[in-house]
Amino acid sequence: MIETTATFGNLELTPQLNSESIPAAKRRRPAPVFAITSGKGGVGKTNVTANLAAALALKNRRVMVIDADLGLANLDLLLGVRPSYTLADFFAGAAPLDEIIVANRQGILLLPGASGVQEMTSLSSDQKAALLTELDAITHPLDIALVDTGSGISDAVTYFTAAAQEIVVVVTPEPASMTDAYALIKVLASAHGQKRFWILANNVSGEAEARRLFDALSRTALCFLNAALDYLGWIPRDPRLARAVARSRMVVEDAGDAPSAQAFVAVAQRMMQTAAGGVAVKGNLQFFLRRMLAGERGGR
Ligand SMILES: Nc1ncnc2c1ncn2[C@@H]1O[C@H](COP(=O)(O)OP(=O)(O)O)[C@@H](O)[C@H]1O
Ligand SMILES: [Mg+2]
Repeated sequence: MIETTATFGNLELTPQLNSESIPAAKRRRPAPVFAITSGKGGVGKTNVTANLAAALALKNRRVMVIDADLGLANLDLLLGVRPSYTLADFFAGAAPLDEIIVANRQGILLLPGASGVQEMTSLSSDQKAALLTELDAITHPLDIALVDTGSGISDAVTYFTAAAQEIVVVVTPEPASMTDAYALIKVLASAHGQKRFWILANNVSGEAEARRLFDALSRTALCFLNAALDYLGWIPRDPRLARAVARSRMVVEDAGDAPSAQAFVAVAQRMMQTAAGGVAVKGNLQFFLRRMLAGERGGR
């Protein structure tokens, strides 16, 4: 068996390049992928991604976040890292993958997608093979991956989202956020064959408002799209989150006692339960990456 050790900051990973030779009992459960998406921008996707990653890291889960927002890639700011490269540099042959992926102070790995994300759909088979080989080695020891997808119904967003095992749609009480979430779910259901969605209510006054948003959306989705929505939880509107953002920090890390920080911990717990209990019908991180590269749509 070939073994290499890659070091990301203070996190040491020893990927098993040849997973076939690991006895089944010792093989790790494959890392599930949660795409964090929304119909409308500015609803809190990047904060949700970063803070959930931080909450998972606090629980000693090995997390990778993928910045797949073509418009405003700013996950790095919240995580407190300054990547030198993006996936586009890998495709240009300018950097190997383990130099593109950076670890933040908590050991959260960030794969900066940026402009490389769009290129993923049009790679040569040699480039795909090179990317998959390197990604397999790096992602093998992970517990979970979160993808900050960007918002809306453009191909770049729906392509990434449909490839993920779990889809989390972030909504807020703003009417436009709800109508745009419905439009996104409609596209994912009708053009990409997606039938299951998690709804995370952000920026709400409390659980009652979160439930109202969820009930309204799920009734309509079930009635008109035959899509089942699941309730993932809620994050309160919290000035301490906004204050943390102003200092390029995550509230989970900065103010663990803040209401939003505690809500992120609760939602992270829910995701871990889902990941542990759920059958990975749609595959894991490796399958996700393969599916993205193959440009396959839907199918669960
Ligand atoms: N729960 C919340 N409480 C208070 N402010 C929030 C909350 N969620 C998001 N925000 C504010 O909304 C802004 C946009 O969030 P961001 O995560 O960048 O959205 P997106 O990635 O969806 O565009 C943040 O800078 C923050 O000030
Ligand atoms: Mg964002």
